[in-house]
Amino acid sequence: SVLEMEVEQINKGNYEHYMQKEIHEQPESLTTTMRGRLIRGGTCKAKTVLLGGLKDHLKTIRRSRRIVFIGCGTSYNAALAARPILEELSGIPVTMEIASDLLDRQGPIYREDTAVFVSQSGETADTLHALEYALQNGALCVGITNTVGSVIARKTHCGVHINAGAEIGVASTKAYTSQIVVMAMLALAIGGDAISNQARREAIIDCLFDLPNKVREVLKLDQEMKDLAKLLIAEQSLLMFGRGYNYATALEGSLKVKEVALMHSEGILAGEMKHGPLALVDESLPIVVIATHDACFSKQQSVIQQLHARKGRLIVMCSRGDAAAVSLGGACSRVIEVPQVEDCLQPVVNIVPLQLLAYHLTVLRGYNVDQPRNLAKSVTTE
Ligand code: G6P
Repeated sequence: SVLEMEVEQINKGNYEHYMQKEIHEQPESLTTTMRGRLIRGGTCKAKTVLLGGLKDHLKTIRRSRRIVFIGCGTSYNAALAARPILEELSGIPVTMEIASDLLDRQGPIYREDTAVFVSQSGETADTLHALEYALQNGALCVGITNTVGSVIARKTHCGVHINAGAEIGVASTKAYTSQIVVMAMLALAIGGDAISNQARREAIIDCLFDLPNKVREVLKLDQEMKDLAKLLIAEQSLLMFGRGYNYATALEGSLKVKEVALMHSEGILAGEMKHGPLALVDESLPIVVIATHDACFSKQQSVIQQLHARKGRLIVMCSRGDAAAVSLGGACSRVIEVPQVEDCLQPVVNIVPLQLLAYHLTVLRGYNVDQPRNLAKSVTTE
């Protein structure tokens, strides 16, 4: 109806689509996610994290033999992005499960496990069934959702709301970045205040405070990503290479392109390049390489060199100031420079240009951004 259309326009504000609005509101949604949960200075002076919904369970979580992340789609990718920092700060093995695959295998889950269910809607059927399965097996079940009162929020023993605000676009954007931030805070909370980790913890907390500003900066790449989308508009396929903290970025960037721009795209673990993907490389296939500055940087530089040696058409994402170090004297067709943040939070910054790229590709190709064909916001059947 006309009224519904008018309400929709009001909800979208100055934006043409919900996905566009949700990408651009990430500085605000991240701020809401962290509100009241980060403590810097004050009377106790220490920088800490406070997650109210978990505080009575932290001891049990710290004693668990394994933490297992369970989710689908973008929520799974967010957990994958947070996995390295959780392993580092907790020292507990962290494993990953796609909800449907855990159920297909009836994989082992034990009383000594902490199972973390990540779901924007809190209603996804596979994730819910995996939760019921983990409850039967006696694991401590933690929910990370964006929907207060959702079934996953209600059935888990404890949890954290990501407070990103309602997400309307079928393709998840702001929920992804808020999920990563919540799981980084979870890692800080589980890690406790061991003296050995103190400098690292404080650097992460300082970085969290500044993260909305960095996301605001990276959003300025909007026009640059639109120009890149124009170049890629007629491609059949787009590969994305990442590793370490940013393997998840490659998976999530390619999921966005697939879901909304209806273009084939694959996220590839760069360490696996020689075990197959290298065979795809030629002069025409566009390849995004994520090579922001972290402990894997020199390995990613060598990946760039090897892709270039096969005449790959490279689009490299690097930290500001590293353009010369990655572009091999103009060999890359494009360099995307992003602000550098603490390595474990870099995925929050790096996904933004790829969200923008997927968004512009979709609009330019003339597809429905907010409701891609065949997909639903919340998949409540198996
Ligand atoms: C659907 C949506 C995705 C979402 C996935 C998991 O596929 O289209 O955007 O990532 O479900 O949803 P959840 O609500 O559990 O995070």
